[in-house]
Amino acid sequence: MADAKKLYIKTYGCQMNVYDSERMAEALEGDGYEQTQDMAEADMILLNTCHIREKAAEKVYSDLGRMKPLHDAKPDLKIGVAGCVAQAEGEEIMRRQPMVDLVVGPQTYHRLPEMMKAVNAGGQALDTDFPPEDKFDHLPKRVLPARNPSAFLTVQEGCDKFCAFCVVPYTRGAEVSRPADRILLEAEALVERGVREITLLGQNVNAYHGHKDGLAGLIWKLSEINDLKRIRFTTSHPNDMDDALIDAHGTCEKLMPYLHLPVQSGSDRILRAMNRKHTADDYRDLIGRIRDARPDLLLSGDFIVGFPGETDADFEATMQLVRDVHYGQAYSFKYSARPGTPAAEKEDVPADVATARLHELQALLSAQQYQTQADMVGRKVEVLFEKKGRQRGQLIGKSGYLHAVHAEAPEAMIGTVQRVRIVNDLTNSLTGELVA
Ligand code: 5AD
Ligand code: SF4
Repeated sequence: MADAKKLYIKTYGCQMNVYDSERMAEALEGDGYEQTQDMAEADMILLNTCHIREKAAEKVYSDLGRMKPLHDAKPDLKIGVAGCVAQAEGEEIMRRQPMVDLVVGPQTYHRLPEMMKAVNAGGQALDTDFPPEDKFDHLPKRVLPARNPSAFLTVQEGCDKFCAFCVVPYTRGAEVSRPADRILLEAEALVERGVREITLLGQNVNAYHGHKDGLAGLIWKLSEINDLKRIRFTTSHPNDMDDALIDAHGTCEKLMPYLHLPVQSGSDRILRAMNRKHTADDYRDLIGRIRDARPDLLLSGDFIVGFPGETDADFEATMQLVRDVHYGQAYSFKYSARPGTPAAEKEDVPADVATARLHELQALLSAQQYQTQADMVGRKVEVLFEKKGRQRGQLIGKSGYLHAVHAEAPEAMIGTVQRVRIVNDLTNSLTGELVA
């Protein structure tokens, strides 16, 4: 038998891309490709790209440039670009880098085997449709051997919110929810492979409507799978946090006490300009209701500084919101004008002002994050062990709050949830001891 061809995938951006990369690798298995972690030995390189900010998109072109010598040395090497840059820039990619054989968008990668036929015949292939058929119906069933006890599962894609800065409604398209029964089947298959924690993914996951009771209905249904121990979801819009979902945070034991709920800004003026359709106080009230349901919930968020028109007072309103809410973890970004979005037409805040604001916000968010983590010391938490640690005899896992936790434990505990007393805070992780 001929040796398997090697596929190297580089994933940029969000967790949904991580999930899509896995599914693309599975789709290419039928073509005889197996994954490698070493780009130099690859027969095919696939870049699964992100278009959310300018830096992410430009990185793809610089990485392609760096692959040129590899391609010159190995002319049979196939190069593909997938994901949101592929969707947004399509033919432009092949124009800028003619060595690219294949360009495939996020909604058409089930057609990869077909596209590979054209590529193997020496041609190029491009498909950035939003096809009527559901790609998930055309992808191979998930039968890979168990790897990590924690897995992603895409339940919803696209977004109808049209925040003024965001490319997602254009690159991922309109909001589409997968039917709950298909998700259950995929979840059961993952659990059979040893998965114990599933993170439900969607660009606007709490707008999920593939179950009559929305995302909460899906979570309750999934919680009936016996060996599934933990459920998470990301990422959410404040306006879609309905009562059933808030209630599930208080009553569904398998739903973890962690919520990523981006607000982007604390200024009502900027929130309006961003088309977020809620005020800062709406968000404060919402957080209050969620914390009433689940007082120990760890809150995460996303922020943009330097949105066009943002004044010092607007920025101070964001700082005040962060002080009021107190985040356990957060992401913050300098606004980046994206072609085709409404905000791109507006005048940017001077770069040095935006940079200074970003540093100030990040300092506050980091202090809150460190404080939250330090407060864990002395507490007993449940940890799902995922793999061996670097030190002998140690395993690494995650607490319900998504903190990485190291503890001495037998290897047989990988894939199990154990009670651990947190004894030390090591900045990037916590250490703990098994509680007998
Ligand atoms: N500029 C900066 N940050 C952005 N995000 C989305 N679009 C932009 C942009 N044009 C951020 C938002 C979003 C996260 C995924 O990325 O904070 O929640
Ligand atoms: Fe983008 Fe999220 Fe706004 Fe949708 S809700 S447009 S994905 S920032």
